[in-house]
Amino acid sequence: MDNRPIGFLDSGVGGLTVVRELLRQLPHEDVVYIGDSARAPYGPRPAEQIRDYTWQMVNFLLTKNVKMIVLACNTATAVVWEEVKAKLDIPVLGVILPGASAAIKSTTHQKIGVIGTPMTVSSGIYQEKIQHLAPDMEVTSLACPKFVPLVESNELTSSVSKKVVYETLKPLVGKVDTLVLGCTHYPLLKPIIQNVMGPSVKLIDSGAECVRDISVLLNYFELNKSRELAGQNHRFYTTANANSFAAIAEKWLERSVNVEHVNL
Ligand code: DGL
Repeated sequence: MDNRPIGFLDSGVGGLTVVRELLRQLPHEDVVYIGDSARAPYGPRPAEQIRDYTWQMVNFLLTKNVKMIVLACNTATAVVWEEVKAKLDIPVLGVILPGASAAIKSTTHQKIGVIGTPMTVSSGIYQEKIQHLAPDMEVTSLACPKFVPLVESNELTSSVSKKVVYETLKPLVGKVDTLVLGCTHYPLLKPIIQNVMGPSVKLIDSGAECVRDISVLLNYFELNKSRELAGQNHRFYTTANANSFAAIAEKWLERSVNVEHVNL
């Protein structure tokens, strides 16, 4: 048993899609979340900068005495997961492997699409992980650099968002039967993405998939929070405006949240 919280990090609000799934699957656990919205999006930044920023968030979470760290950001996972995992003595999870496995399980015609930030797509990591597990899969990847700024500005259903999503995803329509949302911000645009791709395309939420792995690790290492400890204590931190973060977080998590501004 381990009553410490689980730490989550993301470039902004995207990791909340992972937290939402955690609160559904493991509602007893406590969360500490850091979102670096002041410096989002990470996707177009050079790898070295993404590495530095991610380490700053990891170190922040370590000061909060977390029992596990989830890189709830595909971009950070692509650049620095292996390194963080190797250096820390608590479990560190990323979101890419769970998304890759789920896509293989879901596809019916071995045609998988992957959408992500420019860094995630140019790293080729999804293609590599998917084809490592299942070499016959055809993987088509597409960078969607306009999606994260839309989500960060809480434009989840606007006509601008609909237009941008439609224009961006056009090249993938009719070409894949499964689409990996390879950025944790994208599930916030899921209804629009599903509408553009069509009802038969299965959307894979890489973050939600990773919660299953969190659960397995908590069980394996006996890190679950004690049942006797009543109540929850979730803490959210942002490097940008706390009220703007709370507006998105409260809508998405369907509860009131306690958000504090921090400088990393
Ligand atoms: N949520 C991050 C991801 O999963 C978005 C990165 C960004 O800020 O561009 O990749």
